[in-house]
Amino acid sequence: MNILHVVGARPNFMKAAPVLRAIRNSSAVTQTLVHTGQHYDVKMSDVFFQQLDMPAPDVNLGVGSGSHAQQTAEIMRRIEPVIIEARPDIVVVYGDVNSTVAAALVCSKLLIRIAHVEAGLRSFDHTMPEEINRIVTDRIADVLFTPSTDGDVNLQREGIGAEKIFRVGNVMIDSLVRLLPAANAYPRNGFPKRYALVTLHRPSNVDDSVVLGNILDGLLSVRDDIDVIFPVHPRTKQRIKEFAIDATRLHLLEPLPYVEFLALQSRAAVVITDSGGIQEETTYLGIPCLTVRENTERPITVTLGTNTIVGRDTNRLIAEMRDILEGRQKKGSIPPLWDGHAADRIATLLR
Ligand code: UD1
Repeated sequence: MNILHVVGARPNFMKAAPVLRAIRNSSAVTQTLVHTGQHYDVKMSDVFFQQLDMPAPDVNLGVGSGSHAQQTAEIMRRIEPVIIEARPDIVVVYGDVNSTVAAALVCSKLLIRIAHVEAGLRSFDHTMPEEINRIVTDRIADVLFTPSTDGDVNLQREGIGAEKIFRVGNVMIDSLVRLLPAANAYPRNGFPKRYALVTLHRPSNVDDSVVLGNILDGLLSVRDDIDVIFPVHPRTKQRIKEFAIDATRLHLLEPLPYVEFLALQSRAAVVITDSGGIQEETTYLGIPCLTVRENTERPITVTLGTNTIVGRDTNRLIAEMRDILEGRQKKGSIPPLWDGHAADRIATLLR
């Protein structure tokens, strides 16, 4: 059996690594790893391959940045000949980034089977590019691996046959479970004892100077009570510079490698984010998370986990931060099948 995996952006790497590892020991399976090059900075890509112990990609398409149409089209153009040459039995795509949908579209036209890892998540917000990527990928995938029951329900509601849907749990948590001991061993010196950890990169939050300015003002307003550590995504870094926002009172860092970021998350008093994966990681870790978005495609992190959706209302964000800092925080539990073995279940099903 010949399996080809496609990754492209930072949030793909921690999802693909456990699946590659779980399949690696099967003698009858050949694996090919294609990196589209959507994320190309060492800090956004290479360092993750090292820490997650991923094999170097067999092919790097080197697509780089561009508009959504340019990036998606360029991935499709460059990946088609690779897939034709490799002739995989199945192509595995991950998450909801442009690389995911681009690879899935190409495979569907080549009549090559597609497996989608992290299928079925829906924010029901069509202004989010990732939502379009999720809907299209799930519609054309042949095998859909879901992380939680809401994923199964969403897919069935869209008319996808139950025979294609497999609830396997959360592969991102597989990587977390494996590397948590390394994160726990990460030295504490150099970081404040008590801090809020922030990540922001959604276009809806960072591409508008007023919206970004308001969020950063909110963070600055609690700065006298707690340190704010903020590893800055390249998109956000460009915008802070472009809008000439003074964020110097926040502890700004470059994007961090996986283990360092996990260490910071697991020790944070509160995490403020607009990421998808971080809502899940904080739920697993039991750390309170405030999500600066109007909705989430990961509702289980709110119903079972430690996540609260605060929207883009800065006053609400400040009030929720204060509640948590004063000890009034949401308690959560870990969703079923977020147990570190999702990739084993995927490997068995693929075989
Ligand atoms: C992408 C994904 C998003 C994911 C996020 C995590 C899509 C539609 N979006 O968004 O789902 O949550 O990655 O990081 O696929 N840049 C660099 N270096 C890099 C990568 C990007 O400087 O290594 C710059 C680009 O030039 C661009 C900006 O960062 O200006 C955004 O990159 P892009 O890949 O377009 O989207 P993300 O916002 O990272």
